[in-house]
Amino acid sequence: MTVQEKIQGLRLGVNIDHVASLRNVRGGTLPDPVRAAHLAVAAGADGITAHLREDRRHIRDADMERLATELAVPLNFEMAPTDEMIALALKLRPHAACLVPEKREERTTEGGLDVVGQAGFLAPRIAALKNAGCRVSLFIEGDEAPIRASKALGAHIVELHTGTWCEAVAHGDAAMAARELERLQKGATLAVGIGLEVHAGHGLDFATARILAATPEFVEFNIGHFLMGEAVFIGLEAAIRHMRMMMDEGRRVSVSPDELQDGFQNGLPA
Ligand code: PXP
Repeated sequence: MTVQEKIQGLRLGVNIDHVASLRNVRGGTLPDPVRAAHLAVAAGADGITAHLREDRRHIRDADMERLATELAVPLNFEMAPTDEMIALALKLRPHAACLVPEKREERTTEGGLDVVGQAGFLAPRIAALKNAGCRVSLFIEGDEAPIRASKALGAHIVELHTGTWCEAVAHGDAAMAARELERLQKGATLAVGIGLEVHAGHGLDFATARILAATPEFVEFNIGHFLMGEAVFIGLEAAIRHMRMMMDEGRRVSVSPDELQDGFQNGLPA
């Protein structure tokens, strides 16, 4: 693998939920989350993620239908594994379905999916999504038991929950941040070792995305809230371009001196 391929191997999925949150505050049609998705793609997003929640607090069914028909890049349909959502995914057939836990009272997704305790409930749902041609991703904590259970359930992907780590970094809790980063890294290594594709998401910002990108087992980051907040100040396009740059910079750390030499020869800036 060349250094360019290694760096390009880290994809950025942009989550557009909070453009819909802003629209829904006024109950109208603006700002349009699908317009944000197109702009994100033009700015370098490799895919778009949207979470259709049971209470429709941000993304709505019509948004999901437009995303599924209009986007040329992969759509990652984030959803709770309810019968209603599975039926919608089977109809829309997105590139990927990312199963997440969902509680009505939570502000955002809290914790990973209980794949060990819910294995019997999840198995037929995962099978149905796979039969419809979707890549199935499970949003889990980076621990051994849920990683192995995800593999046993036939998931293609695990998305490791980065929320606890990002919060520790934000609060300056260095000991906790170091522990959480190690948990994510160990989890990613185990997951790749047993044949799973590994993504990461929740709470990532420029600094944490740059740090995590140095772990080469991660091949996709899904990032939303921070990018939309940053867009208020510097614009969505600039925020996405800067995130891409941070991820590429971080990934370069995982490149050996020999690979870097190869990168120079192929015109990659150091
Ligand atoms: N990945 C998953 C599975 C999520 O639930 C979320 C939050 O909706 C994200 C990624 C994006 O997190 P954030 O908006 O904090 O960047």
